[in-house]
Amino acid sequence: MRILVTGATGTVGRHVVDQLLTAGATVRALTRDPAAAALPSRVELVRGDLDAPAPELFEGVDRMYLLALGDPQHVTDLAKRAGVRRIVTLTSVVASETRERTERAVENSGLEWTHVRPGMFAANLLDWADAIKTTGVVREPYADARQTPVHEQDIAAVAATALLFDGHTGQTYPLSGPESLTKREQVAAIGAAVGLDLRFEQQSPDEWRTQVPGFVADFLLDLWRQATRTPEPVLSTVEDLLGRPARTLTEWAADHVGDFR
Ligand SMILES: NC(=O)c1ccc[n+]([C@@H]2O[C@H](COP(=O)([O-])OP(=O)(O)OC[C@H]3O[C@@H](n4cnc5c(N)ncnc54)[C@H](OP(=O)(O)O)[C@@H]3O)[C@@H](O)[C@H]2O)c1
Repeated sequence: MRILVTGATGTVGRHVVDQLLTAGATVRALTRDPAAAALPSRVELVRGDLDAPAPELFEGVDRMYLLALGDPQHVTDLAKRAGVRRIVTLTSVVASETRERTERAVENSGLEWTHVRPGMFAANLLDWADAIKTTGVVREPYADARQTPVHEQDIAAVAATALLFDGHTGQTYPLSGPESLTKREQVAAIGAAVGLDLRFEQQSPDEWRTQVPGFVADFLLDLWRQATRTPEPVLSTVEDLLGRPARTLTEWAADHVGDFR
């Protein structure tokens, strides 16, 4: 079985590639820059861009892992014409026009589909790595926002399961990590796993905004403000699907010690 992995060089996609290879699948990995891809030599590495996808990209492909990129209707049409039978999307628990466009195109294609909708990636906390390494202090607004960071390997494992096995067609899987943690608790979990004495310092939204591009800042500030009032829910999807608990933030940080020291 040949599986096309889009976003193969991304945070989740790399693990999707690894897990599919481990399962014995043939993996075609899409990247705009093969020289920089650093993927296992066993993958069929293909240069391409979903903003202008070449029909050959999908030739000989049975199943596809699809990020919300490019024109999903066009991508799905090309995939269907080439004989792709199943598409697993990676979107988000947060509703957006991009998510709707991507999921609708895939659903309307008549192909088998599964939507994987993660919440906050634990890997977003790599944004704290420089501050942790240089000062041991993380400065951000909304210290008490309660979030449920999910390990990228768990997201990839759910996507790989839906790609490889039957029984997931027509399902939408919202994903979270196993614990609800304030930002202060997230910093503490990283400190404990990495063996550093870290501190969280509350910053005003306006001060933080000066360091971050405008549209990203607005999106995140909204999300964090909401999460101070309504904690992000802990979902059992990862455990239900994989038959083992989702990885904790402490486990995630232990997998990333090198990034924080
Ligand atoms: N961060 C979060 O908390 C969070 C939460 C929920 C959902 N998400 C969703 O997760 C998705 C990102 O997944 P990720 O973090 O695994 O990826 P990522 O690390 O952001 O990497 C982006 C990937 O997309 C590929 N890519 C970008 N533009 C492309 C194009 N025009 N054509 C083909 N490939 C292209 C890149 O490949 P090359 O550079 O090699 O070409 C790379 O593999 C986004 O849709 C985001 O909304 C994120």
